[in-house]
Amino acid sequence: MKKHIDKIKILFEALPYIRKFYGKTVVIKFGGAAMVEEELKKGFARDVVLMKYVGINPVIVHGGGPQIGGFLKRLGMESKFVKGYRVTDVETMDVVEMVLVGKINKEIVGLINHFGGRAVGLGGKDGSLIEAKRLRIRGARMGMAGEVKSINPHVIESLEKSNFIPVIAPVGLGPDGMSYNINADTVAGRVATALNAEKLILLTDVKGVLDNKGELMSTLSVKGARSLVRRKVATEGMVPKLTCCVEAVSNGVASVHIIDGRVEHAVLLEVFTDAGVGTVIR
Ligand SMILES: Nc1ncnc2c1ncn2[C@@H]1O[C@H](COP(=O)(O)OP(=O)(O)OP(=O)(O)O)[C@@H](O)[C@H]1O
Ligand SMILES: [Mg+2]
Repeated sequence: MKKHIDKIKILFEALPYIRKFYGKTVVIKFGGAAMVEEELKKGFARDVVLMKYVGINPVIVHGGGPQIGGFLKRLGMESKFVKGYRVTDVETMDVVEMVLVGKINKEIVGLINHFGGRAVGLGGKDGSLIEAKRLRIRGARMGMAGEVKSINPHVIESLEKSNFIPVIAPVGLGPDGMSYNINADTVAGRVATALNAEKLILLTDVKGVLDNKGELMSTLSVKGARSLVRRKVATEGMVPKLTCCVEAVSNGVASVHIIDGRVEHAVLLEVFTDAGVGTVIR
């Protein structure tokens, strides 16, 4: 009996967090190692299902850098990055769209549903969710790399109302009718803003944001985040991450976290305990 009572006690420890986030939207960017390693993938899917069943509305946006890279390599193609953004020519874009929308998106949807959730996969074209425009970086030709022009959250809201879990692939439709490849962190940030989310969680494959000595910064201000990018302490994939965090915080998303997706149940640790793993941006 004692064993069972202890279990109930653990449930009650989560009660304040459940109360705080009940009915609220939490946008989670799924990426990095957590999306590659089998056990971590399953753990993530189960975390999401549990959140949904206690009344929180998770919205997933996923990346797919390593998988896209792997497919391009198999096809004898390769891609370059400028400031953490993938240079995407038209042929590369075909592969990006197939891998993100066709493969990875459905894989995540399948896993969540396997563990008892009801997920629906969306590309940015579905319900005109993501309107894209060409990404412009001075001195670089970025091709079909895009940025978000606007988010039309109606499709997500109607899925949430019917208790579905939306899973979003970051491919948007441009004004020219072409597909654009958008950094998943950027999309997650904009979706969080559009949905007035309570929390934005970016999963990655490092401990969090690291300072110039390589040490974890557990809290970071908007000013501090900008300065890390300016001083080039944050480079590559961390640049779009910090940029979108700063934007989300400035646009009223109450709490923004960059967390270590290599830690088992990283998402639940962040939502249901005080033992957050990673960096919070305020
Ligand atoms: N100051 C920093 N602190 C932490 N990581 C940094 C920093 N500067 C650069 N990085 C790099 O940013 C990377 C994280 O971004 P990256 O885009 O590679 O992964 P992701 O966004 O989690 O996954 P994906 O892009 O596939 O969705 C880290 O692996 C690290 O190499
Ligand atoms: Mg990235």
